[in-house]
Amino acid sequence: MKSGRQVKSPTALDAIGITPIVQLHKIVPEGSADIFVKLEYFNPTGSYKDRMALSMIEEAEKRGTLRSGMTVVEYTGGSTGSSLAFVCAVKGYRLVLISSDAFAIEKLKTMKAFGAELIIVPSVGGKTTPDLIPRMMEKAKSLADNDDCYFTNQIHNSDIIVGHRNIGKELLKQIDRPIDAFCGGVGTAGMLMGVSLELRQVYPNVKIVALEPASSAVISGGSPGSHDVEGIGIGAVPPLLDERLYDEARGIDENEARQRVRLLAKEEGIFAGTSSGLNVVGALQLAKELGEGKTVVTVAVDTGLKYLASDLYPV
Ligand SMILES: Cc1ncc(COP(=O)(O)O)c(C=O)c1O
Repeated sequence: MKSGRQVKSPTALDAIGITPIVQLHKIVPEGSADIFVKLEYFNPTGSYKDRMALSMIEEAEKRGTLRSGMTVVEYTGGSTGSSLAFVCAVKGYRLVLISSDAFAIEKLKTMKAFGAELIIVPSVGGKTTPDLIPRMMEKAKSLADNDDCYFTNQIHNSDIIVGHRNIGKELLKQIDRPIDAFCGGVGTAGMLMGVSLELRQVYPNVKIVALEPASSAVISGGSPGSHDVEGIGIGAVPPLLDERLYDEARGIDENEARQRVRLLAKEEGIFAGTSSGLNVVGALQLAKELGEGKTVVTVAVDTGLKYLASDLYPV
Protein backbone atom coordinates (compact mmCIF):
# COMPACT_ATOMS: atom_id res chain seq x y z
CA MET A 1 0.00 0.00 0.00
CA LYS A 2 1.52 3.30 -1.13
CA SER A 3 0.61 5.60 1.74
CA GLY A 4 0.78 2.99 4.48
CA ARG A 5 -2.78 4.05 5.41
CA GLN A 6 -5.35 1.27 5.89
CA VAL A 7 -7.96 1.72 3.14
CA LYS A 8 -11.17 -0.32 3.33
CA SER A 9 -11.76 -2.04 0.00
CA PRO A 10 -15.18 -1.08 -1.36
CA THR A 11 -18.10 -3.51 -1.54
CA ALA A 12 -21.51 -3.19 -3.20
CA LEU A 13 -22.71 -1.62 0.07
CA ASP A 14 -20.63 1.46 -0.73
CA ALA A 15 -22.92 2.11 -3.70
CA ILE A 16 -25.76 3.06 -1.32
CA GLY A 17 -26.69 6.76 -1.21
CA ILE A 18 -25.51 9.99 -2.85
CA THR A 19 -28.42 9.77 -5.28
CA PRO A 20 -29.12 12.51 -7.86
CA ILE A 21 -31.62 15.33 -7.49
CA VAL A 22 -33.66 16.75 -10.39
CA GLN A 23 -36.09 19.60 -10.79
CA LEU A 24 -39.45 18.95 -12.49
CA HIS A 25 -39.74 21.08 -15.61
CA LYS A 26 -42.87 20.07 -17.49
CA ILE A 27 -45.60 18.89 -15.14
CA VAL A 28 -45.54 21.81 -12.70
CA PRO A 29 -48.23 24.41 -13.53
CA GLU A 30 -47.29 28.08 -13.82
CA GLY A 31 -47.56 30.01 -10.58
CA SER A 32 -46.55 26.97 -8.52
CA ALA A 33 -43.42 26.55 -6.43
CA ASP A 34 -40.41 24.72 -7.89
CA ILE A 35 -40.37 20.98 -7.23
CA PHE A 36 -37.22 18.92 -6.73
CA VAL A 37 -37.26 15.12 -6.69
CA LYS A 38 -34.46 13.00 -5.26
CA LEU A 39 -34.00 9.90 -7.38
CA GLU A 40 -33.70 7.21 -4.76
CA TYR A 41 -34.01 4.47 -7.37
CA PHE A 42 -30.31 4.98 -8.01
CA ASN A 43 -29.63 2.91 -4.88
CA PRO A 44 -28.33 -0.64 -5.60
CA THR A 45 -31.68 -2.49 -5.32
CA GLY A 46 -33.53 0.45 -6.86
CA SER A 47 -35.05 1.76 -3.62
CA TYR A 48 -34.30 4.06 -0.68
CA LYS A 49 -34.80 1.06 1.56
CA ASP A 50 -31.14 0.12 1.00
CA ARG A 51 -30.26 2.96 3.35
CA MET A 52 -32.34 1.68 6.25
CA ALA A 53 -31.47 -1.99 5.68
CA LEU A 54 -27.81 -1.09 6.07
CA SER A 55 -28.38 1.00 9.19
CA MET A 56 -30.60 -1.67 10.82
CA ILE A 57 -27.84 -4.25 10.35
CA GLU A 58 -24.88 -2.04 11.21
CA GLU A 59 -26.41 -0.42 14.31
CA ALA A 60 -27.24 -3.93 15.63
CA GLU A 61 -23.68 -5.09 14.87
CA LYS A 62 -22.30 -2.09 16.79
CA ARG A 63 -24.46 -2.94 19.83
CA GLY A 64 -23.48 -6.62 19.56
CA THR A 65 -27.11 -7.76 19.28
CA LEU A 66 -26.39 -9.12 15.79
CA ARG A 67 -23.34 -11.34 15.50
CA SER A 68 -21.76 -13.50 12.83
CA GLY A 69 -23.62 -16.82 12.41
CA MET A 70 -27.02 -15.43 13.45
CA THR A 71 -30.13 -15.44 11.23
CA VAL A 72 -31.86 -12.16 10.41
CA VAL A 73 -35.71 -12.26 10.33
CA GLU A 74 -38.10 -9.61 8.96
CA TYR A 75 -41.63 -9.21 7.56
CA THR A 76 -41.77 -7.05 4.48
CA GLY A 77 -43.79 -5.81 1.55
CA GLY A 78 -40.75 -6.59 -0.54
CA SER A 79 -38.77 -3.37 -0.71
CA THR A 80 -37.19 -3.68 2.72
CA GLY A 81 -36.84 -7.39 2.05
CA SER A 82 -34.93 -6.84 -1.18
CA SER A 83 -32.66 -4.32 0.53
CA LEU A 84 -32.08 -6.55 3.56
CA ALA A 85 -31.40 -9.51 1.28
CA PHE A 86 -28.81 -7.42 -0.56
CA VAL A 87 -27.11 -6.25 2.67
CA CYS A 88 -27.19 -9.74 4.23
CA ALA A 89 -25.75 -11.27 1.05
CA VAL A 90 -22.74 -8.95 1.18
CA LYS A 91 -22.30 -9.38 4.94
CA GLY A 92 -22.90 -13.15 4.94
CA TYR A 93 -25.98 -13.43 7.18
CA ARG A 94 -28.74 -16.01 6.66
CA LEU A 95 -32.02 -14.13 6.13
CA VAL A 96 -35.61 -15.38 6.51
CA LEU A 97 -38.29 -13.03 5.12
CA ILE A 98 -42.05 -13.14 5.65
CA SER A 99 -43.86 -11.52 2.73
CA SER A 100 -47.13 -11.86 0.81
CA ASP A 101 -48.57 -12.36 -2.65
CA ALA A 102 -50.07 -8.85 -2.25
CA PHE A 103 -46.69 -7.48 -3.29
CA ALA A 104 -44.90 -7.27 -6.63
CA ILE A 105 -43.56 -10.56 -7.94
CA GLU A 106 -40.42 -8.68 -8.99
CA LYS A 107 -39.71 -7.90 -5.33
CA LEU A 108 -40.31 -11.50 -4.22
CA LYS A 109 -37.93 -12.71 -6.92
CA THR A 110 -35.33 -10.09 -5.98
CA MET A 111 -35.32 -11.27 -2.36
CA LYS A 112 -34.65 -14.82 -3.53
CA ALA A 113 -32.03 -13.68 -6.04
CA PHE A 114 -29.98 -12.30 -3.13
CA GLY A 115 -30.31 -15.65 -1.34
CA ALA A 116 -33.07 -14.90 1.20
CA GLU A 117 -35.46 -17.65 2.34
CA LEU A 118 -39.06 -16.58 1.71
CA ILE A 119 -42.29 -17.42 3.58
CA ILE A 120 -45.45 -16.19 1.83
CA VAL A 121 -48.53 -15.18 3.87
CA PRO A 122 -51.56 -15.34 1.55
CA SER A 123 -53.42 -12.04 0.93
CA VAL A 124 -57.12 -11.46 0.29
CA GLY A 125 -57.47 -10.62 -3.41
CA GLY A 126 -53.87 -9.48 -3.76
CA LYS A 127 -54.53 -6.30 -1.73
CA THR A 128 -53.03 -4.77 1.42
CA THR A 129 -56.02 -5.34 3.71
CA PRO A 130 -55.82 -4.09 7.34
CA ASP A 131 -55.20 -7.61 8.68
CA LEU A 132 -52.34 -8.48 6.33
CA ILE A 133 -49.41 -6.72 8.02
CA PRO A 134 -50.42 -7.95 11.54
CA ARG A 135 -50.57 -11.53 10.21
CA MET A 136 -47.09 -11.19 8.65
CA MET A 137 -45.79 -9.62 11.87
CA GLU A 138 -47.09 -12.51 14.00
CA LYS A 139 -45.39 -15.05 11.76
CA ALA A 140 -42.09 -13.15 11.95
CA LYS A 141 -42.33 -12.84 15.75
CA SER A 142 -42.92 -16.56 16.17
CA LEU A 143 -39.87 -17.39 14.02
CA ALA A 144 -37.64 -14.80 15.64
CA ASP A 145 -38.31 -16.08 19.16
CA ASN A 146 -34.98 -17.88 19.12
CA ASP A 147 -31.52 -16.89 20.44
CA ASP A 148 -29.86 -17.43 17.06
CA CYS A 149 -32.20 -14.96 15.33
CA TYR A 150 -32.12 -11.18 15.07
CA PHE A 151 -35.55 -9.69 14.32
CA THR A 152 -34.99 -6.36 12.55
CA ASN A 153 -38.67 -5.45 13.16
CA GLN A 154 -38.59 -2.37 10.91
CA ILE A 155 -41.86 -0.83 12.16
CA HIS A 156 -40.48 -0.49 15.71
CA ASN A 157 -36.79 -0.09 14.92
CA SER A 158 -35.45 3.46 15.25
CA ASP A 159 -32.17 2.32 13.64
CA ILE A 160 -33.93 2.87 10.30
CA ILE A 161 -33.92 6.61 10.92
CA VAL A 162 -30.10 6.60 11.07
CA GLY A 163 -29.92 5.49 7.42
CA HIS A 164 -32.66 7.81 6.20
CA ARG A 165 -31.11 10.89 7.81
CA ASN A 166 -28.57 10.70 4.99
CA ILE A 167 -31.31 11.61 2.49
CA GLY A 168 -31.83 14.83 4.43
CA LYS A 169 -28.08 15.51 4.69
CA GLU A 170 -27.68 15.02 0.95
CA LEU A 171 -30.66 17.28 0.16
CA LEU A 172 -29.12 20.08 2.19
CA LYS A 173 -25.93 19.82 0.12
CA GLN A 174 -27.69 19.39 -3.23
CA ILE A 175 -30.29 22.19 -3.00
CA ASP A 176 -28.54 25.53 -2.64
CA ARG A 177 -31.60 27.51 -1.53
CA PRO A 178 -34.10 27.29 1.33
CA ILE A 179 -36.43 24.29 1.29
CA ASP A 180 -40.01 25.37 2.14
CA ALA A 181 -41.76 22.02 2.14
CA PHE A 182 -41.00 18.31 2.01
CA CYS A 183 -43.53 15.50 1.60
CA GLY A 184 -43.40 11.73 1.51
CA GLY A 185 -45.60 8.63 1.76
CA VAL A 186 -45.50 6.92 5.12
CA GLY A 187 -45.05 3.20 5.74
CA THR A 188 -42.75 2.85 8.74
CA ALA A 189 -42.30 6.69 8.66
CA GLY A 190 -38.53 6.14 8.78
CA MET A 191 -37.80 8.20 5.67
CA LEU A 192 -40.03 11.14 6.66
CA MET A 193 -38.63 11.22 10.21
CA GLY A 194 -35.00 10.97 9.06
CA VAL A 195 -35.36 13.75 6.49
CA SER A 196 -37.34 15.96 8.87
CA LEU A 197 -34.68 15.68 11.59
CA GLU A 198 -32.03 16.94 9.17
CA LEU A 199 -34.04 19.64 7.34
CA ARG A 200 -35.44 21.14 10.54
CA GLN A 201 -31.90 21.71 11.89
CA VAL A 202 -31.27 24.13 9.02
CA TYR A 203 -34.81 25.27 8.14
CA PRO A 204 -36.86 25.13 11.38
CA ASN A 205 -40.02 26.28 9.56
CA VAL A 206 -39.91 23.78 6.69
CA LYS A 207 -43.39 22.27 6.26
CA ILE A 208 -43.22 18.48 6.56
CA VAL A 209 -46.23 16.60 5.15
CA ALA A 210 -46.97 12.90 5.65
CA LEU A 211 -48.81 11.28 2.73
CA GLU A 212 -50.99 8.18 2.78
CA PRO A 213 -53.54 6.49 0.48
CA ALA A 214 -56.90 8.32 0.72
CA SER A 215 -58.72 5.00 1.17
CA SER A 216 -56.69 4.21 4.30
CA ALA A 217 -55.91 7.66 5.67
CA VAL A 218 -55.37 6.57 9.28
CA ILE A 219 -52.77 9.23 10.16
CA SER A 220 -55.18 11.92 8.92
CA GLY A 221 -57.82 10.51 11.30
CA GLY A 222 -59.64 8.18 8.89
CA SER A 223 -60.32 4.45 9.10
CA PRO A 224 -58.04 1.72 7.83
CA GLY A 225 -59.06 0.45 4.40
CA SER A 226 -57.64 -1.56 1.55
CA HIS A 227 -55.49 0.01 -1.15
CA ASP A 228 -52.96 -0.88 -3.79
CA VAL A 229 -49.98 1.34 -2.99
CA GLU A 230 -47.16 -0.94 -1.93
CA GLY A 231 -45.09 -0.01 1.10
CA ILE A 232 -47.29 2.70 2.62
CA GLY A 233 -50.65 2.87 4.42
CA ILE A 234 -50.08 0.05 6.90
CA GLY A 235 -53.57 0.46 8.42
CA ALA A 236 -52.30 1.98 11.69
CA VAL A 237 -50.27 4.99 12.79
CA PRO A 238 -46.67 3.72 12.64
CA PRO A 239 -44.91 3.86 16.04
CA LEU A 240 -41.93 5.80 14.66
CA LEU A 241 -44.11 8.66 13.39
CA ASP A 242 -43.29 11.45 15.84
CA GLU A 243 -45.93 14.22 15.91
CA ARG A 244 -43.24 16.82 16.57
CA LEU A 245 -41.53 16.02 13.28
CA TYR A 246 -44.34 16.65 10.81
CA ASP A 247 -46.95 19.38 10.34
CA GLU A 248 -49.76 17.68 8.49
CA ALA A 249 -50.98 14.35 7.09
CA ARG A 250 -52.84 14.09 3.77
CA GLY A 251 -54.71 11.32 2.06
CA ILE A 252 -53.90 11.13 -1.66
CA ASP A 253 -56.04 9.46 -4.31
CA GLU A 254 -54.13 6.42 -5.52
CA ASN A 255 -55.56 6.57 -9.04
CA GLU A 256 -54.25 10.11 -9.39
CA ALA A 257 -50.89 8.83 -8.10
CA ARG A 258 -50.79 6.18 -10.82
CA GLN A 259 -51.69 8.70 -13.55
CA ARG A 260 -49.06 11.08 -12.23
CA VAL A 261 -46.29 8.51 -12.12
CA ARG A 262 -47.00 7.53 -15.73
CA LEU A 263 -46.78 11.18 -16.70
CA LEU A 264 -43.58 11.52 -14.71
CA ALA A 265 -41.99 8.88 -16.96
CA LYS A 266 -43.36 10.33 -20.21
CA GLU A 267 -42.74 14.01 -19.48
CA GLU A 268 -39.82 14.15 -17.08
CA GLY A 269 -37.99 10.85 -17.72
CA ILE A 270 -38.45 9.72 -14.13
CA PHE A 271 -39.42 6.04 -14.06
CA ALA A 272 -40.70 5.19 -10.59
CA GLY A 273 -43.21 3.18 -8.55
CA THR A 274 -46.73 3.96 -7.30
CA SER A 275 -45.75 5.52 -3.97
CA SER A 276 -43.48 7.92 -5.86
CA GLY A 277 -46.56 9.00 -7.86
CA LEU A 278 -48.28 9.70 -4.55
CA ASN A 279 -45.29 11.76 -3.45
CA VAL A 280 -45.42 13.82 -6.63
CA VAL A 281 -49.18 14.42 -6.29
CA GLY A 282 -48.48 15.68 -2.75
CA ALA A 283 -45.61 17.87 -3.99
CA LEU A 284 -47.81 19.36 -6.75
CA GLN A 285 -50.50 20.23 -4.19
CA LEU A 286 -47.95 21.89 -1.91
CA ALA A 287 -46.32 23.72 -4.82
CA LYS A 288 -49.70 25.16 -5.80
CA GLU A 289 -50.46 26.21 -2.22
CA LEU A 290 -47.04 27.81 -1.59
CA GLY A 291 -46.77 29.48 -5.00
CA GLU A 292 -43.98 30.84 -7.14
CA GLY A 293 -40.56 31.43 -5.63
CA LYS A 294 -40.88 28.63 -3.05
CA THR A 295 -39.23 25.23 -3.10
CA VAL A 296 -40.92 21.87 -2.53
CA VAL A 297 -38.96 18.62 -2.31
CA THR A 298 -39.95 14.96 -2.43
CA VAL A 299 -38.40 11.62 -3.40
CA ALA A 300 -38.81 9.02 -6.12
CA VAL A 301 -38.81 6.07 -3.71
CA ASP A 302 -38.08 3.24 -6.09
CA THR A 303 -37.78 2.24 -9.74
CA GLY A 304 -40.67 1.52 -12.09
CA LEU A 305 -38.83 -1.67 -13.05
CA LYS A 306 -40.15 -3.21 -9.82
CA TYR A 307 -43.73 -2.85 -11.10
CA LEU A 308 -43.52 -4.05 -14.69
CA ALA A 309 -45.51 -7.22 -13.99
CA SER A 310 -48.41 -5.11 -12.64
CA ASP A 311 -50.72 -2.82 -14.62
CA LEU A 312 -48.95 0.35 -13.42
CA TYR A 313 -47.33 0.68 -16.83
CA PRO A 314 -49.72 -1.02 -19.29
CA VAL A 315 -48.54 -2.33 -22.65
C1 LIG B 1 -42.42 1.50 -2.31
C2 LIG B 1 -42.42 2.16 -0.96
N1 LIG B 1 -42.76 3.45 -0.87
C3 LIG B 1 -42.78 4.11 0.32
C4 LIG B 1 -42.47 3.45 1.49
C5 LIG B 1 -42.55 4.19 2.81
O1 LIG B 1 -41.30 4.44 3.41
P1 LIG B 1 -41.14 4.46 4.97
O2 LIG B 1 -41.25 3.02 5.45
O3 LIG B 1 -39.77 5.00 5.22
O4 LIG B 1 -42.21 5.29 5.57
C6 LIG B 1 -42.09 2.11 1.44
C7 LIG B 1 -41.77 1.36 2.65
O5 LIG B 1 -41.77 0.15 2.65
C8 LIG B 1 -42.06 1.45 0.18
O6 LIG B 1 -41.74 0.16 0.07
